[in-house]
Amino acid sequence: MAAGKHHVEKLISVERIQAKVKEIAKDIKRDFADKKPLIVPILKGSFVFAADLVRELDMDFTVDFLSVMSYGQSTKSSGIVQMVKDLETDIKDRHVIIIEDILDSGLTLEYLEEYLMLRKPASLSLVALLVKDVERTVDIPVKYKGFDIPDKFVVGYGLDFAQKYRGLPYIGEVIFHDEVSK
Ligand code: PRP
Repeated sequence: MAAGKHHVEKLISVERIQAKVKEIAKDIKRDFADKKPLIVPILKGSFVFAADLVRELDMDFTVDFLSVMSYGQSTKSSGIVQMVKDLETDIKDRHVIIIEDILDSGLTLEYLEEYLMLRKPASLSLVALLVKDVERTVDIPVKYKGFDIPDKFVVGYGLDFAQKYRGLPYIGEVIFHDEVSK
């Protein structure tokens, strides 16, 4: 799918993101300081958020990565979640904290929760920087939430549109100039 004509407007500033990252880190420290959790950023979208978050976590933890994909080049979820890279760590009896950039349809997290629970972690908690205001067919319990956002297509701070914009330091909304490209 062609990206089509569009531009990006700032939705959440760098300063607001930084303040929120600090708040979330404080909450995680309060709950997991003595539990040596396994932090699992879900690639690729969460890599920027996770990098900032872990630098605020002055506590004992380990990190491992999972990579899944469902959007491809499109702005809509394909509905099929593909595992691109699995964990290398045995999570049995570990406190696992999943780091997501955005909760949209919830299909990614529904899939991951089912998949990871089979491996019997001591607990599984979810951090999502952005939670989109959409009706979901699945109930996803987000323990640490950054921002509620409207049902808009957003990019930046790790999030992409056809692999572009991941390096924007803020969260922006993609404004499409013609509906056909959506
Ligand atoms: C995005 C995002 C989340 C997921 C959320 O990933 O990073 O993982 O979509 O959407 P959902 O709630 O509708 O499942 P994407 O599949 O675009 O891959 P990427 O992180 O590699 O960009």
